Amino acid sequence: MLAVIGGSGWEALPGFNPRGQHRPDTPYGEIAGDIVEGELAGRPLMFLSRHGQGHRLAPHRINYRANLWALKQLGAREILAINAVGGIGPDSGPGQLVCPDQLIDYTWGREQTFFADPVEHIEFADPFDTALRRRLLQGAKGAGIALVDGGVYGCTQGPRLETRAEIERLRRDGCTLVGMTAMPEAALARELGLAYVSLCISVNWAAGLSDLPITMDAILAVLAQSRTPVLTLISALAAA
Ligand code: HPA
Repeated sequence: MLAVIGGSGWEALPGFNPRGQHRPDTPYGEIAGDIVEGELAGRPLMFLSRHGQGHRLAPHRINYRANLWALKQLGAREILAINAVGGIGPDSGPGQLVCPDQLIDYTWGREQTFFADPVEHIEFADPFDTALRRRLLQGAKGAGIALVDGGVYGCTQGPRLETRAEIERLRRDGCTLVGMTAMPEAALARELGLAYVSLCISVNWAAGLSDLPITMDAILAVLAQSRTPVLTLISALAAA
């Protein structure tokens, strides 16, 4: 079954018909909130808000291990992660939807593995699931939704936004997007054998790339505009 992990601005799924909710105990502690099981456009789906109700968990405080372990326990096999990001690359301005194919991890101090003891080294050259990416991109094509194929997600620690110099460094490193939550989520999903794909919503130009300040009002306006196309993409992926 497909599970959607909703990020900032996606604390609930509009149009989702809930059938039940679960908050399983995990060996890793508490999950962010209830995992809701139900249907979207007639297709079964699970949904979890990454930051919890009322966006109470900052990116570095999210219990990524508990969230993914619980989703797997409840039967999820595929994960669609929704990530609000800042745009760095030319085709990643506010409002643009991007399906990244690579990432660079700049986070620190997060619990980032299930496999510390005994150690196990997962293959991670392509951090996002190739087949699930293809399905998401095909769904976008079928629905006539502009979704950029490929990008490099730089995952910063947050919760503050970056300095101009940090964004310049990320750009030099090859990042086209910057966010705070794809890691360790993507790696933990791989460790559990879950197919994981990220649907990024660019909500602002990253620091220093626009004359306009990054404001919450502007971000919320972009998130509101992206609601319909993102929902269409989720439904298409659940149906494929
Ligand atoms: N930086 C990091 N994370 C983000 C940003 C940003 O500019 N916008 C949304 N998430």
